[in-house]
Amino acid sequence: MKSVLFSRFFILLPWILIVIIMLDVDTRRPAPPLTPRPYFSPYAASRGAARLPLRRGSPDSDPRRGAQKRNESRPQPEPRLPTIYAITPTYSRPVQKAELTRLANTFRQVAQLHWILVEDAAARSELVSRFLARAGLPSTHLHVPTPRRYKRPGLPRATEQRNAGLAWLRQRHQHQRAQPGVLFFADDDNTYSLELFQEMRTTRKVSVWPVGLVGGRRYERPLVENGRVVGWYTGWRADRPFAIDMAGFAVSLQVILSNPKAVFKRRGSQPGMQESDFLKQITTVEELEPKANNCTKVLVWHTRTEKVNLANEPKYHLDTVKIEV
Ligand code: UGA
Ligand code: MN
Repeated sequence: MKSVLFSRFFILLPWILIVIIMLDVDTRRPAPPLTPRPYFSPYAASRGAARLPLRRGSPDSDPRRGAQKRNESRPQPEPRLPTIYAITPTYSRPVQKAELTRLANTFRQVAQLHWILVEDAAARSELVSRFLARAGLPSTHLHVPTPRRYKRPGLPRATEQRNAGLAWLRQRHQHQRAQPGVLFFADDDNTYSLELFQEMRTTRKVSVWPVGLVGGRRYERPLVENGRVVGWYTGWRADRPFAIDMAGFAVSLQVILSNPKAVFKRRGSQPGMQESDFLKQITTVEELEPKANNCTKVLVWHTRTEKVNLANEPKYHLDTVKIEV
């Protein structure tokens, strides 16, 4: 009797093992992918938006509109984030496309950002138009040339271009109640961390933060006591009313609209004083909102690209193809 039971047991054993293995395979969670999971940016509302196919857009295109539409049926739509308007003056030079590529790669990861790119030129260039059409970013493409008399070393740069950006913003919002928005001036050669956008997004009037690699020091920063700006840590012209670089502040759209005459001025403005001259028109030092952990973190760097060496560039076109750089 015992031996019969034993032999039956050994006949059934392989089948029992097969059933156990099958059950185990079924219930096991899917194997982890071999490739790392795509980076999830906490600053982007929807990753779908950042991954839209490259496509041609009008100068004022918004490739995220489609994504928003598709989400309409969601039971609880996310509250609308204030739009960040980044005004970037730019001019033609060998490194221009490289700078804009770096900038677009950053901006593409930021939710609800509208890029206002203002060319210092008499017309929109083909290079920038093509670039923006493929950038996958909501953007507006403007242009205004700097008058020749102001194109001299020692004079402030990009005055007319920043004013063109301000004028566009004011015109766009002139007939409607201001949507929540934040404006900042993003020069094309700086380096911006993603955290910076999270910080500036909550600007109520005018917010400030440190800037790295500027003013002849490793960084400049507003000095903060009890949550208020009380002075400036700077190595250059500490007498400036707002001793801050263009990359060190953001302004709410509401403040821009309620101060329609606030612009960058050529007359009487020296280089390095543009920021102070502009901020004086819209706020006071006491009113400033310190960001970046009470202005103790550097989230933006005033990097400057070195002039490229084109010593071996031929005078006339020698290559068999024409290549845009
Ligand atoms: C510093 C400040 O960081 C700038 O915000 C300020 O405009 C500038 O000084 C000034 O002297 O006015 P810096 O690195 O010396 O910056 O200036 P650039 O980066 O050469 O120019 C600032 C912006 O203006 C850039 O986005 C650049 O593309 C643009 N720009 C420059 C023009 O549109 N046209 C020009 O002829 C030169
Ligand atoms: Mn610069």
